Amino acid sequence: EDVIREELGSLHGIPLYKCFIEGWPQVEAFQARPDDLLIATYPKSGTTWLSEILDMIYHDGNVEKCRRDAIFNRVPFLEMKVPEMLSGVELLEKTLSPRLVKTHLPVQLLPTSFWDKNCKVIYMARNPKDVVISYYYFYQMAKLHPDPGTLNEFLETFMAGKVAYGSWYEHVRGWWEKRQEKQLLYLFYEDMKKDPQQEVQKILRFLGKEVAEGTVARILHHTSFQEMRKNPAANYETMPTAFMDHSLSPFLRKGISGDWKNHFTVAQNEHFDRHYREHMEGSDLHFQMEV
Ligand code: PPS
Repeated sequence: EDVIREELGSLHGIPLYKCFIEGWPQVEAFQARPDDLLIATYPKSGTTWLSEILDMIYHDGNVEKCRRDAIFNRVPFLEMKVPEMLSGVELLEKTLSPRLVKTHLPVQLLPTSFWDKNCKVIYMARNPKDVVISYYYFYQMAKLHPDPGTLNEFLETFMAGKVAYGSWYEHVRGWWEKRQEKQLLYLFYEDMKKDPQQEVQKILRFLGKEVAEGTVARILHHTSFQEMRKNPAANYETMPTAFMDHSLSPFLRKGISGDWKNHFTVAQNEHFDRHYREHMEGSDLHFQMEV
């Protein structure tokens, strides 16, 4: 049975799926463990890519071990709650440490336990033009979402912060400020595209891990877009069709920087640029719109 497309609810002012909001009390009370590693992102910013990289690092580049289960089970999605599936919290309670935890929550909504336990966090951000395009396709294929309407309508919804998880601007800026006081590594999708080896080295340094030279090469190969796209443990094809229709758009869709150029009109781009400038004013956070 299909999940019914329905309008988003609101969690402390953040638009979110109603079924996730129902599960919120368990999320808020979630008990982190000190060796949990949190992978935090705004949706469509490279979460799955970063998750696969980290699972590979955690398993010393052993590809077979990283095929043991689907990525959404290997790296449980903290606030996920849908009918007839284990919730993110339930899955995490059954997961042995050290755990990798995925969240899209804005920084102010993160369960306090992660801060109390001083958990490490890796945040990945992606430029908003590619995020909104990726999100537009995701709204179509993932049935938890309301109908996105036309691209032009969806651009307005996104700029107004009325998509699931709210304003991209507040999300990336909120987490950016946190990196001052916490063990937080802030990464960019565009850097990962341009020089994945350098970014993986950054992650290893942040984790205080050393791996053999050949292991890094294996990680890079296994987590390339082409490899992940055909890997059933990474490409979401095992997600029940009640939730995702891959015939509308694959989850691993294009995996490039700058695809927005194939979608935005000149007028839409100028409008978006103006909005971007206004909302990023005064911030030292900068994005590359292509690589
Ligand atoms: S989600 O649903 O929020 O967890 O989605 P998320 O994984 O954050 O984002 C999906 C986009 O990331 C792209 N992706 C990759 N790009 C490059 N290399 C690799 N290995 C990779 N894996 C996933 C994926 O294709 C989505 O972006 P678009 O632009 O739609 O292709």
